[in-house]
This record gives sequence, C-alpha cells and structure tokens, in this order.
Amino acid sequence: MTVPLVPDFQWMMDNLAEGVMMLDADLVIQYTNPAASALIEIGRKAVGQPFDHVFQDRNFREMRQALFSVLREGHPFSKREAHVWAGNRELVIDYTVTPMQWNNQTPYLLVELHNMDRLVRIAKEEVLKANHQITRQLIRGVAHELKNPLGGIRGAAQLLARVLPAEEYRDYTRIIIEETDRLKQLADRMLGSRVIPCRCPTNIHECLERVKHLITAEAPAAVQLVRDYDPSLPEIKADPDQLIQVFLNISRNALQALLENPQHERIDCIMFSTRSQRQFTIGSMRHRLVLQIVIEDNGPGIPENLVDNIFYPMISGRPAGSGLGLSIAQEIVTQYGGLIECHSQPGSTKFTVYLPIAGAEA
Ligand SMILES: Nc1ncnc2c1ncn2[C@@H]1O[C@H](COP(=O)(O)OP(=O)(O)OP(=O)(O)O)[C@@H](O)[C@H]1O
Ligand SMILES: [Mg+2]
Repeated sequence: MTVPLVPDFQWMMDNLAEGVMMLDADLVIQYTNPAASALIEIGRKAVGQPFDHVFQDRNFREMRQALFSVLREGHPFSKREAHVWAGNRELVIDYTVTPMQWNNQTPYLLVELHNMDRLVRIAKEEVLKANHQITRQLIRGVAHELKNPLGGIRGAAQLLARVLPAEEYRDYTRIIIEETDRLKQLADRMLGSRVIPCRCPTNIHECLERVKHLITAEAPAAVQLVRDYDPSLPEIKADPDQLIQVFLNISRNALQALLENPQHERIDCIMFSTRSQRQFTIGSMRHRLVLQIVIEDNGPGIPENLVDNIFYPMISGRPAGSGLGLSIAQEIVTQYGGLIECHSQPGSTKFTVYLPIAGAEA
C-alpha cells in the first residue's frame, strides 16, 4: 500500500522545516519527511514500522489512544509539550494529528511534529537568568548595608583598645576587630569585584593550566588532575583573571567534595576538558562557535536538596561555605553571554561552561 502523494506534493513535504509523518489505519508509518527523520533519528528505516516502535515513551499510550480516536472520530488532535522517547533521546514536542481520506479509502493520519526541546530550554534559561539577577541585586544591597557600619565599629573598637589598656579587655576588642574584618571580607565577596575587566585575546588553556597549578598546590598528591584539551580552540576576548576565577571556584568545589567525602576504593580525580561546539543556542541567541569547558570530579555528587539551587548566592552544603563561589562564577560567565550547566550524580559531577566566541544571531 502506498500513500497517494503527488510528486510535486512530495517534493514540497520533503522540503518542509517541520517534521511530517503519514500513518496508515494500523498506525504503521508510511512516510516521513527529512525533518521528521532527523528528529526521530532513525531516518527512512522508520517507514514500514509501527509508530510505537519509533516513539518508545512514557506518553506512548496517551499518543496511541489519541491517534486511534482521531481515526474513529475524524477530528484533528493537538498536544503541546509531549515528552517522548525517539531513538535514545527524550524529546519535547508539540504534535498535531489530522485524519486524511482519499475517495472513501481507509483513512491515513498526517502527524506534524514540532521540536520544542530548544524552546523549552531557552525559556528555562531566561527564567533562571532573571531569578539570578534579582538575587544577586538583593545580595549586593544587603552587602552594601552590612559594610556601611563596619568601618565605624572597627574604628570604635580600636579607640576602646587605646583607652582601655588593661589586658583583660584586650581580648574583647581584638575579637570585635577580627570579626568585623571577617564580615568585611564576606561583604566584599558578596559585592563582587569592582575592577573593570579587560577584554584581551585569551587562551582558555592557559587559564585552565593556572587553575590546575593552584589546585595542585591545595590538593594532596593522591588527587589526580587529568587534562583532555582540544588544542585547536581559538582564543577568546576575555579577562583571564575573571575566567581563572570561574574555573577556580568550580574546581575548588570539586576538590572540597572529594576531600570532605573520602572513600578508600576511589581514586580521587578531577578532569578538565575542552571542546568547541558549533551552532549552539544560549538564551535566545544562536552562536556559530562556542567554547565548551568541562570540569568533572568523581566525588559524592551534589546533595539532592541543593542541586536545583546551587547557583543562587548563599546556598551552601558545607559548614564553612559561604555559598558564593558558584553564583560569582555564574555572574561572570553571564557577562560574556555564556552559560554554566551542571549534571551531578554520585561518582560524577560535571560543570560545563559555554563561552561564545563567534557570530551570534537572535
Ligand atoms: N563538585 C561538587 N561536588 C559536590 N557538591 C558540590 C560541588 N560543587 C558544588 N557543590 C555544592 O554546591 C554548594 C555551593 O557551592 P558554592 O561554591 O557556591 O559555595 P561554597 O563552596 O559552599 O562556598 P564558597 O565557594 O563561597 O566558599 C557547595 O556548598 C556544595 O554543597
Ligand atoms: Mg565554593
């Protein structure tokens, strides 16, 4: 049985940007256009297969029922943001099913597939970015207010120390001075750097090497620091000190996670790798070329209750942590139009930094 596609009509379908499939009344695939083949990643092999061999998913029963009810009732059906498994990937798609019948023959189903994966990701990133900006502003405001009286308190404590020379009071004034200094340091970190960053051609590998050097100095010899660089990566216009700060904050967390959760059978390892990505979308911008830097450790993973919020300031899973490292890293990377992603499970925590270097279009 062949689908009665007129040659011109087929040519048009083949050139559509949206995915189109044709199913017969037994829900066997009779036609997929190239956009649909690319989306489901099994190409022309899909033709002749029952549709549920191609979409193996948790919504598959729902989709199957929807297809049968379209056949039965003859009305089109649309579904938004359906999560389906195609090949080995989970996709978010919008789909529309339309019944089609030629000369009272058995009906066919025309299935239009719109890939929403990218759009959902963009929407999530935009919301996250907005939330982070608001929290950063809030934290800066608090830091500013915190810092104002500290100078006064410190000065008064110094005066007190002078007018109360008795040794028994020295300890009290010393504690006041030390604690105000500690608070000032914290407030400075919360406020962030006020140095205007330079933008000079920067070799990402030189920044990573510097970080590796610093981490080596902090880590016991048993921790392995592994490199897997793509030497063909071009330079990026950036402030090397800022990039070092980003990679150092991430690597230091990795080291702390490994050292604070020792396991005899594990060989502690932090891996630095670099790659390039072409045609990569960050927010609503599509970039021709993006640097991808991955810092991975084989530690315990990020605690589940923290994992969704670690980029917010003051969120920390460590007793001595101030929860600022990742939020500072995120802020710097955002200034360069980039993105940090995190995937974590016990035995593998991966932070991926994306930094655009060439050509962006909205
Ligand atoms: N590689 C990692 N493995 C396990 N947990 C991690 C990892 N990286 C980050 N975390 C968790 O994320 C939290 C937030 O990290 P962040 O760097 O923002 O703050 P911090 O390390 O607690 O404090 P600070 O960096 O300001 O000293 C950490 O406290 C830790 O619980
Ligand atoms: Mg940290």
